[in-house]
Amino acid sequence: MTVSVLTRGDSFKYDQVSRYITDLIDKGQLKPGDKAPSLRKLSKELGVSISTISQSYLSLEDQGILRAKPQSGFFINSMVNQINNIPKSASTEGQPRKVSFGGLFEEIFINASNPRMVPFGEAKPSMDFMPVKSLTRTTRSIISRFPERCMDYSFPPGNRKLREQIAQQYQNISTRVSADDVIITSGATEALSLSLQTVAKRGDIIAVESPTYFAVLRLIEKMGMLALEIETDPETGIVLDALAEAFDTMDIKAVLASPNFSNPLGCLMPEENKRALVNMLAELDVPLIEDDVYGSVYFGEKRPRAAKSYDLNNLVLSCSSFSKSLAPGYRIGWVLAGRYRKKVVELKQATFSATSSINQLAMAEFLSSGQYDRHLVRLRMNMRDQVEKGRYMIARSFPRGTCISNPQGGNVVWVEMPTGCNSLDIFNRALEKNIGVTPGILFSATRRFKNYLRINCGFPWNETNQQAMTTLGKIVSASLAESRS
Ligand SMILES: Cc1ncc(COP(=O)(O)O)c(C=O)c1O
Repeated sequence: MTVSVLTRGDSFKYDQVSRYITDLIDKGQLKPGDKAPSLRKLSKELGVSISTISQSYLSLEDQGILRAKPQSGFFINSMVNQINNIPKSASTEGQPRKVSFGGLFEEIFINASNPRMVPFGEAKPSMDFMPVKSLTRTTRSIISRFPERCMDYSFPPGNRKLREQIAQQYQNISTRVSADDVIITSGATEALSLSLQTVAKRGDIIAVESPTYFAVLRLIEKMGMLALEIETDPETGIVLDALAEAFDTMDIKAVLASPNFSNPLGCLMPEENKRALVNMLAELDVPLIEDDVYGSVYFGEKRPRAAKSYDLNNLVLSCSSFSKSLAPGYRIGWVLAGRYRKKVVELKQATFSATSSINQLAMAEFLSSGQYDRHLVRLRMNMRDQVEKGRYMIARSFPRGTCISNPQGGNVVWVEMPTGCNSLDIFNRALEKNIGVTPGILFSATRRFKNYLRINCGFPWNETNQQAMTTLGKIVSASLAESRS
């Protein structure tokens, strides 16, 4: 009897067959030039029909991963070599720096959020993958059942039922959190901003990953703090030896990092590194501001633990939101602020005050009904597929020598183009073709990622988007050729 190794009940079986093949390529078990398993053999092996295998192979051919040879079958394309080249980490300047972006940030931000633009410049899943109808139904029902509560303030720490639901989400990842630990904020941005303001002041040094999410650098800039960029491994996150060395010579007031799927690298810090990071900071009595906004959009078997789960000293401020997993526009985030809880609540009360009552009530109901957890299962599968397809699409379209990150979660990839490519020039040229991308220079205060791009893959790879990737590849090749002429 043949037993299917694929998940039962999935209507997109051919996508799973495709993943089976790309996994073999990623593991090096299928190499460029190798013959792919025959339709009949794979059909037997996986327990799915020949037509499903055939559909999958045609889709892999469309993506440039397979090449059909008449009378001979399918072969692995030569470009897949590139897929296993991931960017390398590089040591940083090692000095704290004032951040100064000028108008660049706004220009890029406005263009990235233009709905007419091909969304390679965004950093969120497309609404095609969000439960738009069911969350809207829940919100309508909340408004009609509790109109007065919806219209009233919901002061910090925020709606109790929502805080209970958020605390429950942590149960599955060995993190003891109660509703009293949760402070609701207007998105993760507010959580990060409150955390930074609580633990540091103007002129203080904040250690960050390199590359790091540019809005973090922007917050540091606006608060007059200094960013100290620490070498970060594209697979395992912030390099602990480099961080420890920085502590030897500098008075660092806080570390801000994303152990689970940093933006832009998508890397996952191994659990032992998270524990070591938290322990190192506990010894130094320095707080960790953890950005866990992508934590629930993981590609592996189970949700990785938050660094907060290793925090025996209440020294971690763990920030997150529903922006990457449900509805960025609802602006609901939170912070588990540990020993800084009282200060954060007071600061929020005094500055940003209440967070939207309607949205908190709707989120609470969406979570308690089980709809959120069910949605997450689908979202994770979709993001993993879109990112995988995106990586192949980039490998096929970009010049030889390009390195592509291999994210373990989230929806963005970090692309190192051959030296000479100018990401700002590429951004401007892509803009003329209505294609959004995020230039690498935004991810460091030292502008050191000149030949890098961050590319969003969190949307369906339809004809238009595939075509746009081909066009982007041509723009990159032209930029490279000009730099060499
Ligand atoms: C790593 C990271 N942290 C925080 C945020 C901000 O999240 P929010 O929209 O909830 O403020 C983003 C959004 O792009 C992000 O990528």
